[in-house]
Amino acid sequence: MKTTLLAVAAAATLAFAPAHAQAPGSKLKVGLMLPATGTFAALGNAIENGFKLYVTEQGGKLGGRDIEYVKVDDESDPAKATDNVNKLIKRDNVDVIVGTVHSGVAMAMAKVAKDTGTLLMVPNAGADAVTGPMCAQNIFRSSFTNYQPGYAMGEVVAKKGHKNVVTITWKYAAGDESVKGFKEAFEKGGGKVLKDLSLPFPGVEFQALLTEIASLKPDAVYTFFAGGGAVKFVKDYAAAGLKGKIPLYGAGFLTDGTLEAQGADAEGLFTALHYADSLNTPRDNAFRLAYAKTYKLQPDVYAVQGYDAAQMLAVGLNAVKGDTTKKAEIAAAIRKAKIDSPRGAFTVSANHNPVQDFYLRQVVKGENKSVGIASKALVDPGRGCKM
Ligand code: PHB
Repeated sequence: MKTTLLAVAAAATLAFAPAHAQAPGSKLKVGLMLPATGTFAALGNAIENGFKLYVTEQGGKLGGRDIEYVKVDDESDPAKATDNVNKLIKRDNVDVIVGTVHSGVAMAMAKVAKDTGTLLMVPNAGADAVTGPMCAQNIFRSSFTNYQPGYAMGEVVAKKGHKNVVTITWKYAAGDESVKGFKEAFEKGGGKVLKDLSLPFPGVEFQALLTEIASLKPDAVYTFFAGGGAVKFVKDYAAAGLKGKIPLYGAGFLTDGTLEAQGADAEGLFTALHYADSLNTPRDNAFRLAYAKTYKLQPDVYAVQGYDAAQMLAVGLNAVKGDTTKKAEIAAAIRKAKIDSPRGAFTVSANHNPVQDFYLRQVVKGENKSVGIASKALVDPGRGCKM
């Protein structure tokens, strides 16, 4: 009995002990676990740029500590995720992990972060579970849950009077959850989903599925694709002769960071997202100018999410003078903060996900122009989160 209790106490101490001692004045080691290759490579690059831009604006420090970056290419491959995140924690002794884009990879990261108590900032992946059943005091998201843009678009498509919709996406957590969020709002608004079509991630063989859409003749199509896959989908939709015949709606990733490559085939598309190109607020204008100057690139939603992951981390670390072992104080500071994001200020819900507006955007002359609010201060329900 005694040994069992001791063992339990020892295990508990181990689980909550800092991964390594924190010498005063030591550098803050930030592990960037993002895709550098594959269909999401550009998304990973934008997140890293955004994160580093904010850090640079703070004089290179967060919570009073200089930053040292350690990088790993996660390849958007869930099978490699646990090894990759363990390397960052155990070999590189990082204090905080920033990652990632792909929901399947993020879920593996969240499990390790929860088990080891390592701070994790998720700058994109929307996996509902990360701020649902897997939620933890040390896990935060600066982006969205997959439910959110799906739900926002479901409300819009119902209000537009469409009745019968076909959905099409990649068969993995993000696609499934985006469609589920869409369906929840669309059916509440009186619509019906005729059929859910999908293909494995990161496949781009859309032809047979587009032929099926043409024969089903729905009133509209809802889709979740992102990155390189989104570029190809929008081009193939037009090439199949569906553009202009069956309206295509998407979670805003469909046209974010992709418009240059999509060209005229994206013009006119409606999407919902927590960012747009034409917000024209002083905060967003300053961000866009700084980003364009630094990287000779236009920012997108991923750049904003990376920037805001750094902002959220700064709020937490400034409250504890950079001591990443003070998890409860870090969480308390982030939960009561208002994050001054280029997307518009947002707060963080009890399950550590942004409470934010979703813009209805339309592609006009190669820009995701905001044409109104699709859903105001949309809160993720955080189903299954017990903290
Ligand atoms: C995801 O896997 O959660 C994901 C990936 C790319 C996006 C959005 C969500 O643009």
